[in-house]
Amino acid sequence: MKLIAYNVRDDEIPFVKAWGEKNNVEVSYSIDTLNAETVKQAQGYDGISGLQTIPYDEALFSEMKEMGISMLALRNVGLDNVDLTAAKKAGIVVTNVPAYSPASIAEFAVTLALAVNRKVGYMYHQLHELGEFHFSPDFMGQLISNQTVGVVGTGRIGREAIRMFTGLGAKVIAYSQSHLDDSDLNFTYVDSLEELLDQADVIDLHIPGVPENEHLFDEKAFKHMKSSAILINTARGSIVDTQALICALEEGEIAGAGIDTLENESADLQNSRSTAQVTDSNVLKLAKMPNVIVTPHSAFHTDEAVMNMVNISFNNLKQQLTGGEVDNLAK
Ligand code: COI
Repeated sequence: MKLIAYNVRDDEIPFVKAWGEKNNVEVSYSIDTLNAETVKQAQGYDGISGLQTIPYDEALFSEMKEMGISMLALRNVGLDNVDLTAAKKAGIVVTNVPAYSPASIAEFAVTLALAVNRKVGYMYHQLHELGEFHFSPDFMGQLISNQTVGVVGTGRIGREAIRMFTGLGAKVIAYSQSHLDDSDLNFTYVDSLEELLDQADVIDLHIPGVPENEHLFDEKAFKHMKSSAILINTARGSIVDTQALICALEEGEIAGAGIDTLENESADLQNSRSTAQVTDSNVLKLAKMPNVIVTPHSAFHTDEAVMNMVNISFNNLKQQLTGGEVDNLAK
């Protein structure tokens, strides 16, 4: 069995090599994004591991079929960028890693919420943009323990976020399509997103990037939010209409944002060796705002997550290619 992983960052390489040695399987890696062209590097391999937010499209899956490669094992959770219909048509098995470390993403959402609430962006702006270093009225923050946090989505990551926010003393409300019946977490469900928008000081998103959630946060949603509220998005860029977000921030309709995921993320975002300058005008606009912290889709990025992403993805490939029962088939 020969396996190859695409879009591999330098911090993943030791885990990739260690898995190969432990399992006595030949594994290689490429720093390239996976597409119908780059997949040609996988000639002679049996399965592919991938990690990207740009599309895995029909052309890729037809090429894999032509090359006799039957499986793509993602190293991440989100399936929104996978044309599963095309994969099925080409007979390609797809797996993901549903729970590599929900706490890693939740903890980063909390980090962004605290940093925005405590005006870290204003302090950075003063030092790095103005070259000054002194107190300012702009630095007066809010205590999370005096606030209501509205968590949207109560799946694995949302539940971790609720646990962390309540641990910090916040009152937590949540909105979700499906409710947990037996949770020992200390929060209450609200009946509608509008209700959550009306009440929350911090709005924290943990829902998938499925078509139903596209632009759930649009001009109307921002008008519903308190002018003192902040939005945290470590989920998927497509959930938030970026133009509407920028407008709401410019007009003072909301007080700030922590944005780890953006619409139209580029292949370059996932190239850890890139030295390219930012050209995305939305990223440039958000980066200039002291009340916004914008980060490159990195909420997942902890040592625990990276190890699990690599190991579980390769385990899935091994299960399939040795005729075993496969965990984590994409649905
Ligand atoms: C996911 O696991 O879906 C993420 O958002 C992580 C990212 C590296 C693609």
